[in-house]
Amino acid sequence: MTEILSGPTIGELQERAHDEGHDYAKGSPHIRHHRIRERVISGLHALVGEVTDRNGQCRVLEVGAGHGTFTDHLVAAGARVEVTEMSAPSAAVLRHRFRNNPRVTVTHDPEGEAVLRAEPLDAVVCISVLHHIPDYLGAVEHLVGRIAAGGAFFSVQDPLWYPRRSGVSMRLDRGAYLLWRLGQGNLRRGLATQARRLRGHYDETNEADMAEYHVVRQGVDEVALQGLLRPAFHQVELQRYWSTQSDVLQSLGDRFGPATTFGLLARNRRA
Ligand SMILES: C[S@@+](CC[C@H](N)C(=O)[O-])C[C@H]1O[C@@H](n2cnc3c(N)ncnc32)[C@H](O)[C@@H]1O
Repeated sequence: MTEILSGPTIGELQERAHDEGHDYAKGSPHIRHHRIRERVISGLHALVGEVTDRNGQCRVLEVGAGHGTFTDHLVAAGARVEVTEMSAPSAAVLRHRFRNNPRVTVTHDPEGEAVLRAEPLDAVVCISVLHHIPDYLGAVEHLVGRIAAGGAFFSVQDPLWYPRRSGVSMRLDRGAYLLWRLGQGNLRRGLATQARRLRGHYDETNEADMAEYHVVRQGVDEVALQGLLRPAFHQVELQRYWSTQSDVLQSLGDRFGPATTFGLLARNRRA
């Protein structure tokens, strides 16, 4: 009899990377840094306000909500939210956090299948999540098909597509990441990850390579996403900005740094 060996699934690797007690703020520039965080929060409030004014309601699917840092704001703005999470410990935190809030439904989604369902939505929110999804273009295409006329798609905090970035942008980004790892006393891990990235060798059993799927590979193709959204929405805005983990380097990069990261807001879904 032949033994079939199979590695961990993406869901299991995501769970290892976002296990019990995981601190979402620690390595997340969009939570750590006031300027980026405020931009995300005001974007969410504007989105829910605009969609509710137009559609009379705002049913949001927030994919990969982590511990619900931004779900709070969606709910405060008046949305009804379904949050999904691949990691069981994170889904448990979300369930506990929103246990008395009938406006939030929590779905533990170990296979990443919730995006493929058919129920209509008024808005989709993906915060620092597309780069975790191997086929993010397929997932977004399907999600766009579910958004009702007048609705919106919002995604933020994904790495820009590497082949379009300048050498300076790539070197500053990698240098800033290594300095931050050094400050964490974790330079060896940072260097090992960078070396695999540069060689293009990926370990399919290592969550560092598989959970941060497109950070480790080529980044996320912002232009392909924009092209996918444009025919479906009246307005599509692409914002490129600098983001890094270290506080000091974020302040410097806000002023002088090249863009490393992007967000997309697509408004007013065509009928
Ligand atoms: C970088 S964290 C961001 C969490 C949260 N959005 C935030 O900004 O605080 C990415 C999260 O997405 C989850 N995730 C990755 N792929 C997913 C998928 N296909 N469906 C649902 N959750 C996913 C991971 O488990 C992880 O908790």
